[in-house]
Amino acid sequence: MTNSTVLYASQKPLMEFFTLENKNGLKLKFTNLGGIVSEIHVPDRDGNFADVTLGFETVEEYRDHNDAYFGALIGRYGNRIGSCKFSLDGEMFDGLFANDGVNHLHGGKVGFDKVVWETELVSGDGYMGAKLTYRSPDGEEGYPGNLVATVLYKLTDENEWVIEYEATTDKVTVFNPTNHAYFNLAGHDGDSPLGHEMLINAAFFTPTDEAGIPTGEINSVEGTDLDFRSARVYGATVNSEDSLISRLGGYDHNWILDKQYGEFGLAAVAYEAQSGREMKVYTSEPGVQFYAGNFLDGSLTGKGGKVYQKRDGFCLETQHFPNSPNYGHFPSTTLRPGEVFRSKTVYAFGVR
Ligand code: GLA
Repeated sequence: MTNSTVLYASQKPLMEFFTLENKNGLKLKFTNLGGIVSEIHVPDRDGNFADVTLGFETVEEYRDHNDAYFGALIGRYGNRIGSCKFSLDGEMFDGLFANDGVNHLHGGKVGFDKVVWETELVSGDGYMGAKLTYRSPDGEEGYPGNLVATVLYKLTDENEWVIEYEATTDKVTVFNPTNHAYFNLAGHDGDSPLGHEMLINAAFFTPTDEAGIPTGEINSVEGTDLDFRSARVYGATVNSEDSLISRLGGYDHNWILDKQYGEFGLAAVAYEAQSGREMKVYTSEPGVQFYAGNFLDGSLTGKGGKVYQKRDGFCLETQHFPNSPNYGHFPSTTLRPGEVFRSKTVYAFGVR
């Protein structure tokens, strides 16, 4: 485990990088700024390592222009809340920041991705990790309640990146954290991930309007280009003419996972045939946003000078459904005083 200070002492709090390494030589590098995971080095079937997550080299670049949310923790509410408002116990909260047209996206102007998290390196049986803590004051970004969020990152000897979220509040509020890492299993600077096979363990999804806000319907994937129940190359249908897909510029949808509510189970499997690298995603969350990187456009230059073009990385953001605070029939994102929010997601790396 190493840690190196990369900003100047005059800038407080200090933004630093930390590196976790497991017994197999896998490395996961992150910063306390936004809990951003900047490098994930995993082997291919011949044991050759590649860094499979998109990102920048310096914390200053993350601080100044991480508009794509590379690697970041997202909160308080991952994904969208329609019209920047919701009501709880009869009280209306309409002060969320509009950063996606008229809607609220990924926690607002200064979300979890842009704050510095108190970071403590920890280790336990079969893992090295870090505990990140952020105290979000009552009213921050329009959300009620003093919220204390902790996120445990672990890199296990089973080659898993484990994320465990916990939170408490002193007023009723909503909470829906996720991580926004982009992946390319060929390496972040390798061939386009559009050739990856994708499997999503879901028979239903939440259709949206043109702005990505769920309409409230729950549709079957059967017979649509959103059916990933069997693994298939997602690049073949990312430009689908199905208006439910084309209106969002490609895959950028919430799938409803085939498991009991709260149960920890499989969300998705991504596979890159040439390297043999495979990533299985497990979660206790009810949904996953598979986002195909449609908004990347060549304007961001990342590690090693790599220019990230459209769809050069994909995200599998485990979550509750977008806009849940405004839909009583979606699983609830309400967090009450006295309750402890708990959620766990695992990105498991292997080869075939
Ligand atoms: C999420 C959203 C996308 C986009 C990205 C960030 O995945 O669903 O629409 O906003 O974040 O670019």
